[in-house]
Amino acid sequence: MPIWGVTVSLDEVRRDWTRLGSAEPLWAVCVDPAKRSGGWDDDGFLASGRREVEKAMDRLDGLGIRPGRDRALDFGCGAGRLSNALAGYFDTVTGVDISEPMLAEARRLDRSGGRIEFRLNDGPDLAAFADGSFDLVYCDLVLQHLPPDLAAGYLREFTRVVRPSGAMVIGVPGREARTFKGLVFRYAPWPLIRVAQRTLLRYPAPMRMHTLPPERLAGLLAAGGARIAASDEYWSGDHWQHLRHFVTVEPAADSGGTR
Ligand SMILES: C[S@@+](CC[C@H](N)C(=O)[O-])C[C@H]1O[C@@H](n2cnc3c(N)ncnc32)[C@H](O)[C@@H]1O
Repeated sequence: MPIWGVTVSLDEVRRDWTRLGSAEPLWAVCVDPAKRSGGWDDDGFLASGRREVEKAMDRLDGLGIRPGRDRALDFGCGAGRLSNALAGYFDTVTGVDISEPMLAEARRLDRSGGRIEFRLNDGPDLAAFADGSFDLVYCDLVLQHLPPDLAAGYLREFTRVVRPSGAMVIGVPGREARTFKGLVFRYAPWPLIRVAQRTLLRYPAPMRMHTLPPERLAGLLAAGGARIAASDEYWSGDHWQHLRHFVTVEPAADSGGTR
């Protein structure tokens, strides 16, 4: 996918996240300048995932979206912050990630008693999983780091692997804020941002930021029989409008739906 004439490949995404996962996995998952160099402790890190997932499950319930509790997918699971929390609601959780060191960290932090499977998924799809494999697909803080074409491909896959009457929770910024940094990310050439992140901010590897306008997301999901029931802005304190989308999936055709 060209960004100002630069092709960003899945290999590059894998390489960057492998480096980030090796150097500072917890900080790279929840970027907070105050938590650089080992600032996150394991319990605090996992607690942040529990707070998020509890809120999300309550929100789905409030919307009348009640997926089965058999199996959840945590796409881009990182160090397993959300996978562990999801294991409080689902019998089994599958956490997939493109970064081996992130997965190693997730296995270290697994508190589920063996109900989470962490596995490498380093292709542009979810070919390892059959249609309708999961009651819930959860994906937060991942798609914004991917070139838009790749993100669109995974979203199509989410609609394939989710069960009829299942649900999705997708967190992705809708647009940049009109702050200096927001505008830099929108308009500056990627090679410049990359150099600034490496030299000025001392990131172990660059982290790109893309936005996904809700209308575009809705279109991609609709093609797979899924609909956004609510989009909540949960934070606007920095340079992006951070949205979490709660998605309902049509029931199977033989239960009165059209999917
Ligand atoms: C910012 S972290 C978020 C981790 C987790 N979702 C959380 O909120 O705790 C982004 C994660 O997405 C993973 N990732 C990036 N591109 C991916 C891809 N194409 N497929 C699977 N995982 C990917 C990264 O390796 C990283 O672990």
